[in-house]
Amino acid sequence: MIAESAEAADRIVADAIVRVFAERPRPVIGVATGSSPLGAYRLLIEDHRAGRVSFAGADVVLLDEYVGLPREHPESYRQFIRRHLTDALDLAPDRLHGPDVWSDDIAAACRDYEATLAGLGGVDVQLLGIGSDGHVGFNEPGSSLSSRTRIKTLTASTRADNARFFGSPDAVPRHVVTQGLGTILAARHALLIACGPAKADPIARAVEGPLTAMCPASVLQLHPHATVVLDDAAAAGLALAEHYRQTFAGKPGWQFL
Ligand code: F6R
Repeated sequence: MIAESAEAADRIVADAIVRVFAERPRPVIGVATGSSPLGAYRLLIEDHRAGRVSFAGADVVLLDEYVGLPREHPESYRQFIRRHLTDALDLAPDRLHGPDVWSDDIAAACRDYEATLAGLGGVDVQLLGIGSDGHVGFNEPGSSLSSRTRIKTLTASTRADNARFFGSPDAVPRHVVTQGLGTILAARHALLIACGPAKADPIARAVEGPLTAMCPASVLQLHPHATVVLDDAAAAGLALAEHYRQTFAGKPGWQFL
């Protein structure tokens, strides 16, 4: 979907999440960190304050988490999501789930996280951003297309991209635990948002390029229900952009996303 503006893209994403609440008695919402989802999170908080959505019966699951940061570090992904989303909602604190990267046994913690997701009945909608190297979650280039939650090493380019949150690339952790590409494929709806010119190249490779581990987001081409929401700048590299615009404009009313 190529939205008229980044703000319109945020609204589409927030609406897609709110709709899950009408359809599922106990929704499981997968959240990403980084800059891309922040506008949608602000809208979700507004919707909550306006009484349009309550997270009281929901579970929220993290896409990934840094390894090596103290639990209360402001840039840990749990704290990031609390600060930008869940602390402003009526989500019960024990219903924010993430991998236990503080465990002495990370491999067991990864398996436990998969079991948590399965125990919740799976993820209804998993929100995603895309990295400049084509990663989703922190599945860096070369990731197995059927991987499950596991520890990964960040590439130098991802650490440079994320240095803005830490002051310098050296301060960015080297390791993360991330939902795998197979884990993301198991979500009932994969919802990726990308806006701005820096996303044009990875989006073109993910949406219209070959399915390849060198562009991990291309795995979404295998997903039975994946939606990529863009602004014009992020869509600039798409060969079929005009076709996508016409398709969006002509969507039948019953078909939201
Ligand atoms: C975040 C995550 C990453 C980001 C991606 C884009 O939890 O898993 O895949 O979505 O690095 O980051 P931004 O949105 O900051 O450009």
